[in-house]
Amino acid sequence: MEGVTFEALTAKVLDEVLDAVVEIDRCLFDLHGSNFSDHVWEKDQFKRGLPRKWELSCIAKNADGKVVGFWIGSQRTKDSVHTHRVGTHPDFGRKGIGRGMFELHQEYVKETAATHLTLIVADTNAMAIGFYEGLEFERLASDDLANFASDLAGAEVGEDTMVLAGNKYRVMRRALAKEAS
Ligand SMILES: CC(C)(COP(=O)(O)OP(=O)(O)OC[C@H]1O[C@@H](n2cnc3c(N)ncnc32)[C@H](O)[C@@H]1OP(=O)(O)O)[C@@H](O)C(=O)NCCC(=O)NCCS
Repeated sequence: MEGVTFEALTAKVLDEVLDAVVEIDRCLFDLHGSNFSDHVWEKDQFKRGLPRKWELSCIAKNADGKVVGFWIGSQRTKDSVHTHRVGTHPDFGRKGIGRGMFELHQEYVKETAATHLTLIVADTNAMAIGFYEGLEFERLASDDLANFASDLAGAEVGEDTMVLAGNKYRVMRRALAKEAS
């Protein structure tokens, strides 16, 4: 999309754009409900410190400097970076903003030792699942899913879905091609 820019979401940048990201989050929750999330992320949740979060997250701005998307990631294990939340403002959907944020996020991931990316998505969120599949994320099943869920309190794992607090999710994973050093 013309004029869209992507930039790091550091703790300092978050302070400047906090109202805008919470507004997008609320808007997406109003539109998509539990497909998107089981609750709106308020300011505290966006601000929550997680390993390497401020080196792995980014936002998108349109030509007017308005925030139109966010990608929140952190280092989950030594080998993996986890995406916690992704959103594109509904007025700007399907214009390449999600993909652009992913590309920047991936650049940041290269600075870590991670060999793969993970995320959790509501099993009914066909829109996001289509998006993630387009980015080459694959659904985890069987032992891989059980291993992923082993440190998630209260997760009940089936063959290829996971139930958390009564909601059904799938876990998706994307391997990273590590360049030979
Ligand atoms: C999922 C989401 C982040 C995608 O962002 P976006 O900026 O619209 O995505 P892009 O325009 O970069 O799409 C890139 C590709 O993803 C795929 N894609 C995007 N939206 C899709 C949809 N609704 N259905 C199927 N495929 C889709 C397409 O392959 C698309 O490429 P194309 O438009 O050239 O066909 C956005 O729709 C969103 O914010 N959804 C609500 C919030 C949410 O569910 N977040 C994820 C759970 S945390």
